[in-house]
Amino acid sequence: MAARLSMNQYKILLLENIHPTARQLLEEAGFTVDEEKGSLSEDELCRRVGQYQAVGIRSKTMITPKVLESHGAMFAIGAFCIGTNQIALEKANHFGLPVFNAPYSNTRSVAELIICELVALSRQLSERSLKAHEGIWLKSASGAREVRGKTLGIVGYGHIGSQVSVLAESLGMKVIFYDIVKKLPLGNARAMDSLEQLLQKSDFVTLHVPETPQTQGMMGARELKQMRKGTYLLNASRGTVVEIPDLVDALKSKHLAGAAIDVFPEEPANNDEMFRSPLQKLPNVILTPHVGGSTEEAQEAIGAEVADSLIRFLRLGSTSGAVNFPQLDVPPSKGARRLINVHRNVPGVLRDVNSIVTNYGANILAQYLSTDSNIGYLIMDMEKGEAERVADEVRKLPTAIKTRVLF
Ligand code: NAI
Repeated sequence: MAARLSMNQYKILLLENIHPTARQLLEEAGFTVDEEKGSLSEDELCRRVGQYQAVGIRSKTMITPKVLESHGAMFAIGAFCIGTNQIALEKANHFGLPVFNAPYSNTRSVAELIICELVALSRQLSERSLKAHEGIWLKSASGAREVRGKTLGIVGYGHIGSQVSVLAESLGMKVIFYDIVKKLPLGNARAMDSLEQLLQKSDFVTLHVPETPQTQGMMGARELKQMRKGTYLLNASRGTVVEIPDLVDALKSKHLAGAAIDVFPEEPANNDEMFRSPLQKLPNVILTPHVGGSTEEAQEAIGAEVADSLIRFLRLGSTSGAVNFPQLDVPPSKGARRLINVHRNVPGVLRDVNSIVTNYGANILAQYLSTDSNIGYLIMDMEKGEAERVADEVRKLPTAIKTRVLF
């Protein structure tokens, strides 16, 4: 029984060529790691996942409700990527399985791409390079400008927006930003009261908002008109934030001097599919295939971040950062045994657990509980000797979903 395994017997399955850092960290933490280069089919997953204490995937492996039915000895899922759409999150919660991802490992990579594009747009770099490759010598200073002293307007001052802010100031740019939440301005950046105010003051506008009902189509004909003539738009957030036909009009009419777009309302599912966009062939428009966050450093950071979350969960029980689970960030248990129990969130569970503890005369050294609408997550540190027997009884409760003792 997995519940009776010592942590050094835990096995982890990593799929889809996850960065080697993850394997290294998990092995250093004492776990056995099996790897597969590709993803597995639903049937293969159903056959295999239940033998492992954790499974690590990237974006191609579909963890469907059927796969989760076969969770067996599994305690957690690592999504070594940003998105978690490929995982049936609610079902995983129902089975007591936290899912960990790495939402901010590629923040710096996106910010660096934006900085590169500010200069590239300002110097018409993509066009001049293209022409030079064709043998055309386009030497002229006309329309080419430094970014120093220009105003960068950042829409969405979160993880990426604020990094862009710091880097842009180091290039000598003035930074203004607009966010729906009050944010502490970094450096000399200044908050604007409205999107309109930001658009009217900026030489460059860069978008770093999430996809929400409010941000869908947030940059349409009206907003693009509010931007000053001869300015630039950059979007590496989500494809639906900009109305592409309106942007095409603004570029064709020369109201905007250029754009750098990394994300599109419709993107090819893989590198074999053709990419089509009405923005193709427009001058001074940089198109990139959603690579803002795609760097080797980001892959390595993702490997380290998710492996670290899995280790902290499997070794300590910490669930902070899990996308589908009650959050608990707990210190190590000093000299105690730690019992971990995921249960259905119904009245009376703590009473039942505590009465088992009382029956065994076990001494509780610390107790932590966090809940969501479906499940409760309970951690109890108790003196050695009693924890396994208490766990055996807790496991029999009709409300118990997953129970294990860390040793
Ligand atoms: P974040 O959550 O840290 O920051 C988003 C900010 O936008 C928050 O401060 C939020 O308050 C603000 N916001 C939300 N709605 C707004 C609105 N209507 N108007 C103004 N501000 C608003 O997110 P993070 O990590 O900075 O990511 C930003 C975007 O970048 C996301 O859409 C994400 O999907 C995208 N992204 C793109 C990548 C790429 O490869 N191109 C890679 C990583 C993220």
